[in-house]
Amino acid sequence: MTIAKLRDFVSAMTREADTADSPNALMEAARPLLADLIREDDWLPEDCARPDEKFYRQYLLHCDPRERFSLVSFVWGPGQKTPIHDHTVWGLIGMLRGEEISTQYAQGADGRFAPTGEAIRLTPGEIDAVSPEIGDVHKVENALADRPSISIHLYGANIGAVERHVFDAQTGQPKPFISGYSNSAVPNLWDRSSRAR
Ligand code: FE2
Repeated sequence: MTIAKLRDFVSAMTREADTADSPNALMEAARPLLADLIREDDWLPEDCARPDEKFYRQYLLHCDPRERFSLVSFVWGPGQKTPIHDHTVWGLIGMLRGEEISTQYAQGADGRFAPTGEAIRLTPGEIDAVSPEIGDVHKVENALADRPSISIHLYGANIGAVERHVFDAQTGQPKPFISGYSNSAVPNLWDRSSRAR
């Protein structure tokens, strides 16, 4: 297990954020970096991989100091799922461990939210995307009934502090929500002492 992969990802993403001329450009530049990060499941700190009995967990792995992006590990216990929600910024969802199901929704003329097509089943190494341009409303759930699943989410903002919405599927009624994070300390990317020693 090596934290260096996470550190390298953060460094590369920061370089991209410094040069990207639009949120879309940053999202596209981020995709191969996230694909590299989730190619092997040997770097996520245990503290950020722990499921909770009742609720899915969102552990902040890193937030850009200028809040241009944030990286979060989503840990799903068996059977856990989100309500229908939006993001208001771009997001990339990379599957690391287990499997999850993402269903996109759109609001019809009657105000109700209905799935826009088949649900996507993500397996390790695969990436799904959301954004206000390509479809921003979805519901996500652990596809596995007997064990946790973990996906690594990258967003174009400090996602835990973004004001967004959950929706009632039947009425279409939005409810404001701010997700926050499940952890109060982020992984230490910067202790290079083992190499220095
Ligand atoms: Fe989401």
